[in-house]
Amino acid sequence: MRFIKILFLVFVSVNVAGQGVIPKPYYDVRNGATYSFSELNIQYPEECSIEAHYLQKELASRNFKVNFNSSSSYNTKIVFVVEPRHGVQPDWYRIQSDSDIIISAISSQGIFHGIQTLLQLIGTEKGSFKLQHLLLYDQPRFKWRGMHLDCSRHFFDTDFIKKYIDLLALHKMNTFHWHLTDDQGWRIEIKKYPLLTKIGSQRKETIIEKNFEPYKGDGKLYGGFYTQEQIKEVVAYAKERYITVVPEIEMPGHAVAALSAYPQFSCQQQPLETLTTWGISDDIFCSKDSTFNFIFDILDEVLELFPSKYIHIGGDEAPKVRWKECSHCKANIKKHNLKDEHELQSYFIGRVDSFLNSKGRKTIGWDEILEGGLAENAAVMSWRGEKGGIEAAQQKHNVVMSPGSHCYFDHYQGDKKTEPLAIGGYTPLKKVYSFNPIPKELDKKYHEYILGAQGNLWTEYIATPEHLLYMALPRMCALSEVLWSGAGKYSYEDFTSRLISHFDLLDSLGYNYSTALFNIEGKSITENGKLSIALQSDFPEYEIRFTTNSDEPNATSTLYKAPIVIDKNLMLKARLFKNGKAKGNLFSQEYKYHLAVGKKITLSNPPSESYNTGGAQTLINGVVGSLPWSGNEWLGWRGKPMNATIDLGELKDIKKVKIS
Ligand code: ACM
Ligand code: ZN
Repeated sequence: MRFIKILFLVFVSVNVAGQGVIPKPYYDVRNGATYSFSELNIQYPEECSIEAHYLQKELASRNFKVNFNSSSSYNTKIVFVVEPRHGVQPDWYRIQSDSDIIISAISSQGIFHGIQTLLQLIGTEKGSFKLQHLLLYDQPRFKWRGMHLDCSRHFFDTDFIKKYIDLLALHKMNTFHWHLTDDQGWRIEIKKYPLLTKIGSQRKETIIEKNFEPYKGDGKLYGGFYTQEQIKEVVAYAKERYITVVPEIEMPGHAVAALSAYPQFSCQQQPLETLTTWGISDDIFCSKDSTFNFIFDILDEVLELFPSKYIHIGGDEAPKVRWKECSHCKANIKKHNLKDEHELQSYFIGRVDSFLNSKGRKTIGWDEILEGGLAENAAVMSWRGEKGGIEAAQQKHNVVMSPGSHCYFDHYQGDKKTEPLAIGGYTPLKKVYSFNPIPKELDKKYHEYILGAQGNLWTEYIATPEHLLYMALPRMCALSEVLWSGAGKYSYEDFTSRLISHFDLLDSLGYNYSTALFNIEGKSITENGKLSIALQSDFPEYEIRFTTNSDEPNATSTLYKAPIVIDKNLMLKARLFKNGKAKGNLFSQEYKYHLAVGKKITLSNPPSESYNTGGAQTLINGVVGSLPWSGNEWLGWRGKPMNATIDLGELKDIKKVKIS
């Protein structure tokens, strides 16, 4: 009977624009009928009191009339049902709506996710809403659905942190990785060591853009930190949204802010200043015993504030030059029978890991903690590609995948000519959506060790909430779907069709986002020794309009129909239009014509994987690489020489060969 009913629902299911959900639920069937509601009566068991009041507040802010468990005239019921159920995860929920809305779960956690889905179904509607009859079951693919935020390089106040946590909750992310310490600022109050914030939370100025050499600073004192009271408030706020806050206290590297306050814990014990530029510092924590006592005291206070199972201790980018010269560190290597400084790093992490274990917690660190041997219970966050994650999983350690190639949201997401200054890289939305946290080469028996993945937001070049959200969105939406719904479960087209209405919701909630997904890409085609440029977008139903005379394209410029041949120097500008309205950013590319353009090229050594976005064509496509590096205009070789052969197809006089 039940089977027949489900079949019936499937046959009449419809996909209605404007009621898409991100991340997409596991099972979502609508039967076409709709009903309106505006006055709602929330009925809930006591254990869901917080969730009921949360929903009431959210609905009230959308001008709905809401009350609780009353016999008033509010005739649409939203009923929370919590009951045991076999074979489902703690996040599981179900929504059924016909004339009432019933959200079922095995705990208040699932009810909360159901509420998020309901709020997305309501979208931007205010005061009254037409909901479809639906039946929806849902639970996540991965356990660790994380977003990171670097609050050291730039400081974000607690009002914004809460707004960020709300954004995570809306997308059913469950982990907020809070990067609280680094070379440029210590951001967490530690009562036993007041100088950490008094001195370490300040830097005398900040480098302007990328003026490293010659250095140019802005001359403005910069600082900020979170009091322990503020941190408690954030942790409690996150907890009500089923988000775990994992603090990161960096060691042994990225510690200059701490050492500026307490230089006695460095190897050289010389005065240091919090850094005003970005990068990696040679000054790191010394491995002497007094440093460990200092770190354990700090962690004691951190553990009081953060109830998370995992504590992130960094571990990345710790040069060993100071340790090599330091009498304490050299003595430690001898005393503990270590082979070298890399094993000393492993000893360092291991000692902190033992401390955390003794307090009932677990260590997580960047993949450098694999160096010299992984601490017994430590989990690895794989950022330098997937390799560290694969290695750790094979050693039966838990892993969170966060490779720079797909999960670094400080990278460019569109053409750098039209994007705000970023650290580099090129990680467009589509690439994030294509991410699979389970590496292809990892044997099935180790898959269980991949807890999930995380998007990272380093803030060297991100100073304001608006810019931060622009970098986070919509890439975080894509990652949330990879992590909740599962990698490859739905097509990119399915995702973007929901994303377009999701943008309206983000607008109404006051979240800035990038529209680079509407950008046009110029794809080089070489055929018979000729180069032409195909203009492409992910929205074939929209129009591409272009110019070759440097004018900005508008809705009446030439409609693009076929690839444009490059047989002379050319300035090509193009833009996407829908119903006469421009979408995304301007495509603008200068093509320099020369003898090698469009000719056959072979490379005897392939470029290194991280620097090979466009392949050999990159060198003969008429595009001159510009700085800062953003992936697609350059090739890079590491270890092996570059060796390119360009076949001009006939004998030609060559006047000049130029390479940069
Ligand atoms: C990192 O990006 N240094 C973990
Ligand atoms: Zn030392």
